[in-house]
Amino acid sequence: MMTENKKTVLTPAIRARIDEWILRYPPEQKRSGVFEALRLVQEENGGSLTVEWMDAVADYLEMPRIAVYEVATFYTLYHLEPVGRHVIQLCTNISCMLNGSEKILAHLKNRLNVDVNETTADGKFTLKEVECLGACVTPPVCQIGKTYYENLTAEKIDEILGKLG
Ligand code: FES
Repeated sequence: MMTENKKTVLTPAIRARIDEWILRYPPEQKRSGVFEALRLVQEENGGSLTVEWMDAVADYLEMPRIAVYEVATFYTLYHLEPVGRHVIQLCTNISCMLNGSEKILAHLKNRLNVDVNETTADGKFTLKEVECLGACVTPPVCQIGKTYYENLTAEKIDEILGKLG
């Protein structure tokens, strides 16, 4: 059983979900659950992390707060500012760049009327530019939520966005 922190923002339900992950590791390595814990609290907090939530994760996993900040700031799956309902993470790394990601980016900016790291006025989409998503053989690629979309064209991205609620 984990140490209780009376002031934590982690509800018993979230703690139980984090526990499901950290029980997969030896007790002395429970900090290995930090990735999933951050993902869970980000989801709970409407799609982004705050210092309060990151600190709660650090305290719960009994790891230095700075180590949690390092994880949260390094990986693009974590958002440190409020985001829209759908976060479009467009890869602009080399394979995608050579296959038209700049055109897709320009199209997205124009269609959504936002710049990178901005959210549409209706709160529906946030546009992000990310490094390689590991799908370099089917460029250009973007990730929206948990789904990858590959071989993107302007028409294809329009179709994808049109289907998102
Ligand atoms: S360069 Fe875009 S997925 Fe690898």
